[in-house]
Amino acid sequence: MTLAGKSELRVSNGSFCYDTHMKVILDMVISPNGFIARENGDEDWLPSDGWDDFVAEAKEHNNIVMGRETYEQVTEKYENENFDNVQVDHKLIVTRNNDSQTPKGYTLVHSPEEAIEFLEKVGVKTLFLIGGGILNSSFAKRKLVNQVQLTVTPYIIGKGRPFLAFDNFEFGMALLSVKQLSLGRVRLVYKVNP
Ligand SMILES: NC(=O)c1ccc[n+]([C@@H]2O[C@H](COP(=O)([O-])OP(=O)(O)OC[C@H]3O[C@@H](n4cnc5c(N)ncnc54)[C@H](OP(=O)(O)O)[C@@H]3O)[C@@H](O)[C@H]2O)c1
Repeated sequence: MTLAGKSELRVSNGSFCYDTHMKVILDMVISPNGFIARENGDEDWLPSDGWDDFVAEAKEHNNIVMGRETYEQVTEKYENENFDNVQVDHKLIVTRNNDSQTPKGYTLVHSPEEAIEFLEKVGVKTLFLIGGGILNSSFAKRKLVNQVQLTVTPYIIGKGRPFLAFDNFEFGMALLSVKQLSLGRVRLVYKVNP
């Protein structure tokens, strides 16, 4: 699928990518070995510290974009740190299912391209991509990610859901900042190399 009015592809590092002006920031809390949740989707091993900062950044960008699985897991499992409590104008759930019911306060879209197109139309400049790993990879594979923000939490789980689902892509990044946070967490911000 191509982006409406932006079907022209430009070449980057010898491969193709969509020509869009939307900045996409991927923001995740991860274990040092790259997991975002247990295999069953539990995030009980992650501290809730950082939630307020996450909400503040979501407000700054006035949107959050999440995979269907993230919406369902977080809504079901967490009463307070829940996307229903994030006050932004645009909360997008990405799904391939055309028959899904749209939860109140959310918009359903069916691809990363449709998410970008929707947000461009409503004047959003930066898409705030909040996972999970399967959706992150969909964006990465299409070379749509411009910035990666990782809060590395000092806790290892041996098995789980990765922050980028395994797929056929690779990209380099430049480190923009490193910040030490409470509880031994470290915040890394990278710019994706064009
Ligand atoms: N630690 C963190 O920072 C963090 C952040 C976010 C989420 N999480 C956790 O991550 C887990 C979920 O992550 P996940 O990787 O399993 O799933 P996910 O990426 O949240 O959702 C996957 C689903 O998104 C939809 N999707 C993905 N790519 C698509 C595309 N190109 N076009 C259309 N739809 C697409 C599909 O929905 P359909 O199946 O409906 O088609 C797919 O099954 C949850 O446990 C959540 O709690 C952790």
